[in-house]
Amino acid sequence: MKEILDSFFKNDDLVVKYYETIDSTNDEAKRIFYGGDSNKYLLVASNQTKGRGRNGHSFYSPSDAGIYFSFLIPTTKEIKDIVYMTTSAAVAVAMALRDVLLVDAGIKWINDIYISGKKACGILCEVADKGEGVHGLIIGIGINMGQADFPEEIKDIAISVGDIDNEKKAELLHAISDNISKYLDVQNKVQMMEDYRNLSLVIGKEIAYIINGERYTGIATAIDDEGGLIVDNNGEKTVLNSGEISVRLI
Ligand code: BTN
Repeated sequence: MKEILDSFFKNDDLVVKYYETIDSTNDEAKRIFYGGDSNKYLLVASNQTKGRGRNGHSFYSPSDAGIYFSFLIPTTKEIKDIVYMTTSAAVAVAMALRDVLLVDAGIKWINDIYISGKKACGILCEVADKGEGVHGLIIGIGINMGQADFPEEIKDIAISVGDIDNEKKAELLHAISDNISKYLDVQNKVQMMEDYRNLSLVIGKEIAYIINGERYTGIATAIDDEGGLIVDNNGEKTVLNSGEISVRLI
């Protein structure tokens, strides 16, 4: 895998590292960043022993059932210019899955990638801050691959993109990398949001969401320019932002 990745990324300005097994590629990205390295990295693993998901959940990451990778992008941009990281990453991955694997990937707000109504990929975006005006953007992506034998608790909601050989995996990672560079560029914000809306699986759907422990339902009507989900709850408009809610299609 290492050699194939190196050949796909030989002309790119990022350091690619491959691990047969690691605790978490997001954690490795933080170690590299806080260790003082200012390079851009792509860290790829076949297996994670402590894969992390959003909201403190663990992320199921066994060997031969997926590919787990993180981009580490050091930047001096202000946080306000990088808040689109979460939506940009989702569009980048969904587009690459569609282009390279020809699967019908869409986005369930805010950045889960779904195929045939089931989750195929999870994305965990984090920002490391050394307090010196330099931030480390960390975009961690886990894609289910192979004949994934999912554990009981996720077998009805998870799906694999299929058995993908190493050459195709590297092609997919390269397409995702190119897309991330493109969509993270503030100049492409309008295009990114338009692509995000086109790929969204929730617009027009009835959704359930939780705010401060209270459960509500409503119709997702639109996505605003900040990536917020606009919900119509019996005529009352609510804008959902990441971090404070959970959404599920019902
Ligand atoms: C989620 O769906 O909750 C997000 C899952 C993100 C998983 C990826 S796998 C690579 C990277 N390393 C981690 O520990 N997590 C992310």
